[in-house]
Amino acid sequence: MYAITVIASPRRNGNCKHITDTINNVLGDNDINTETYFVDDLNIKPCQACRRCKDMDNPTRCIIADDFNRIMDRIGQSQLFIFAAPNYFGELNAQAHLFIDRFYSMTKTTPNKLDYTTKCIVIHTYGARMGHYDEYINKRARVFNSIGLDVIEVLSIGGGLPTSGDDDEVNKMITDAANKAVRSVYDG
Ligand SMILES: Cc1cc2nc3c(=O)[nH]c(=O)nc-3n(C[C@H](O)[C@H](O)[C@H](O)COP(=O)(O)O)c2cc1C
Repeated sequence: MYAITVIASPRRNGNCKHITDTINNVLGDNDINTETYFVDDLNIKPCQACRRCKDMDNPTRCIIADDFNRIMDRIGQSQLFIFAAPNYFGELNAQAHLFIDRFYSMTKTTPNKLDYTTKCIVIHTYGARMGHYDEYINKRARVFNSIGLDVIEVLSIGGGLPTSGDDDEVNKMITDAANKAVRSVYDG
């Protein structure tokens, strides 16, 4: 059993990292191994829109030779994928877009879609008040479903939390999500 975390924030000790650490600690307590990667540390180039992945006469995975296929293989074999990204100017940040744009090679119009056995948690952090980007991130989370991940939770955490202060409600949201992930990893 293992879970892969990908963090799009450049901040090594920021909100995304704090939230995913809390979740990963709960996973570890429940015998689920964890691995964390920062997009900044991966060699992932932008989608070139070459559309080779959409050529159904000659099917292929993404043809860009970088870390994307490697990390997606690892995610596809894992029981849980956690993706965490901050909001920059009303949107997912650049690193998040870089990673998600490459999902183009894994939608149902390719042979590369995953099979919904990997559960997924999408996390979005921001400075605005709690809830401000709920609608935005819930919509964006659909792209994770579109490549065959089973999105079980979308965590939308504002107010610069958890690093800006101790908030019992937010702490509970995070541990509830972690416990839900444990249950869904073991119960399917
Ligand atoms: C370049 C930049 C732009 C930002 N733009 C917004 C914004 O438009 N709305 C918002 O609520 N927070 C914004 N923020 C705040 C971050 O989303 C917030 O601090 C987030 O929790 C950072 O997560 P991290 O600590 O994991 O990097 C911005 C931060 C930066 C660095």
